[in-house]
Amino acid sequence: MRYIEVYEVGPRDGFQNLDEYIPIETKVGIIEKIVQSGVQNIQHTSFVSPKAIPQLKDSRELTEICLSKFPGINFSALVPNLKGAILASEAGVNAISYVVSLSKSHNKANINRTHEESFNELVKIRDAYPDLEICLDLSTTFGCPFEMKENNNRVVEFLENYIKLGIKEINLCDTIGVANPQDVKKTINDVKSAYPNLELQIHIHDTRNMGMINTFTAIQLGVAKIQSTLGGLGGCPFAPGASGNLATEDIVYMLNDMNYDTGIEFSLLLEAAKYQKKEITGNFSGHLQFI
Ligand code: COA
Ligand code: ZN
Repeated sequence: MRYIEVYEVGPRDGFQNLDEYIPIETKVGIIEKIVQSGVQNIQHTSFVSPKAIPQLKDSRELTEICLSKFPGINFSALVPNLKGAILASEAGVNAISYVVSLSKSHNKANINRTHEESFNELVKIRDAYPDLEICLDLSTTFGCPFEMKENNNRVVEFLENYIKLGIKEINLCDTIGVANPQDVKKTINDVKSAYPNLELQIHIHDTRNMGMINTFTAIQLGVAKIQSTLGGLGGCPFAPGASGNLATEDIVYMLNDMNYDTGIEFSLLLEAAKYQKKEITGNFSGHLQFI
């Protein structure tokens, strides 16, 4: 039975888009339900400017609560720069997703950095925190709201410096949900043949109803860690048109039914999705919450 690591990123990618602040107890309550279903990997927040993403202004406190209340769960946080890494580290985080966009214009719109600046800040993070686990979140891997798909053939070349720096894990992100299975196949095959030892994750937004097929295409090509959000919440405030991620309960239902080992109890996960829907107001794109 093949094990697929399901990585829940709803408390970050899902919540970041919601204008109304979700009280920290509500966030913790939703995370608790997710944990109870058997999910082991959770991106619970970002260490970003509270002016850019006011919803995640409680990242330090939420981290402290999560680390003490849910021991044994792998919590990681999204970080866009050195300051984010310093704050994350101070809060006790030991794994981060360092976000950089393949597209120059989205990198600028999202984190106000050039590619060079983003790379140089990662060098500083590596130097300052050699024990910090770092996954590179490659935003707009499959297309960007400003540069469309014109960079798609540049993934291998773009990653070269990061691999030289010692990055071992890359998250291929379809930030605006424009990938099709051929795109996913081509990019994964290209990256795997250039860097066979790299660990790959996949992060697909379901904007055009291709979340399931794209994620499953990645699984069939050997990707063993997949990102999704409870209820299909999600979107990037700095990428016009970005909508919800693939819903965790949808993909877990399918994988469990196909006898993949996710370690997740579907009925409890569905309960978590329903609980979240009751607790917060958002745009839910998951298919199973009404069952
Ligand atoms: N966390 C908290 N505050 C931060 C920060 C971080 N990681 N990085 C910078 N800041 C603060 C600075 O201290 C400064 O504060 P001040 O105005 O009180 O002095 C202010 O933000 C501006 O700093 P600067 O380095 O000039 O940042 P910027 O204006 O160029 O913005 C980012 C850059 C990365 C901080 C900002 O664009 C951001 O947070 N983006 C988040 C994007 C995101 O999360 N997108 C969705 C996920 S992909
Ligand atoms: Zn996303």
